[in-house]
Amino acid sequence: MTNKDLNDLIRSRRSIYPPEFLDKPISKETLETILTNGTYAPNYKKTEPWRFKVLQGASKAKLGQFLANAYKNSTPEKQFLEKKYHKIQEKAEKSSAVIALCMQRDPQERLEDWEELAAVAMAVQNMWLTATQLGIGTYWGSPKAIHKAHKIIPLAEGERCLGFLFLGYVKDARQPGIRLPLEERVVWMD
Ligand SMILES: Cc1cc2nc3c(=O)[nH]c(=O)nc-3n(C[C@H](O)[C@H](O)[C@H](O)COP(=O)(O)O)c2cc1C
Repeated sequence: MTNKDLNDLIRSRRSIYPPEFLDKPISKETLETILTNGTYAPNYKKTEPWRFKVLQGASKAKLGQFLANAYKNSTPEKQFLEKKYHKIQEKAEKSSAVIALCMQRDPQERLEDWEELAAVAMAVQNMWLTATQLGIGTYWGSPKAIHKAHKIIPLAEGERCLGFLFLGYVKDARQPGIRLPLEERVVWMD
């Protein structure tokens, strides 16, 4: 891979949403490649705090129902929109797979919570880039319902859900997103 290829890959990684996903399954082998690359993320004290649950079939449908119900239960009746309810439900339905992104807190708390959280986020970036390279669109959804995720996915003591990665093949590669110029975010210091 050339420097240009790497730059293009990083910059063309985008959030792509399920309505754009093709009706094409992602093989287990491909999912394993994505997950394996996730596990090569740096992680302080080598706790490997990431825990992933791959939802397909019935578990994926259950997630869609769970997210839609969470919207219904948290929305006043007058503001509730049937269309939005179905749109949320369809996110899971239109995804070929959904990966629940979970973090296992070190039982001895040898490092800070945010350091483990950062390690999981780095794993997600590895997976996101891998998916991009494979023509698979994805986005990280972090609805409030993640705080009740234990109702649909198994979570061990000290394990917490940070969101869901929705995955599906897409037709076209994406243009880079828009970012602020470096001057607005970088300070060069002597
Ligand atoms: C931790 C995290 C949580 C996110 N949660 C959501 C979400 O709940 N809903 C959503 O539409 N996008 C979510 N996103 C995606 C961002 O909205 C997206 O990355 C941002 O708009 C930049 O677009 P890009 O990914 O195409 O560069 C999340 C991203 C991150 C890193």
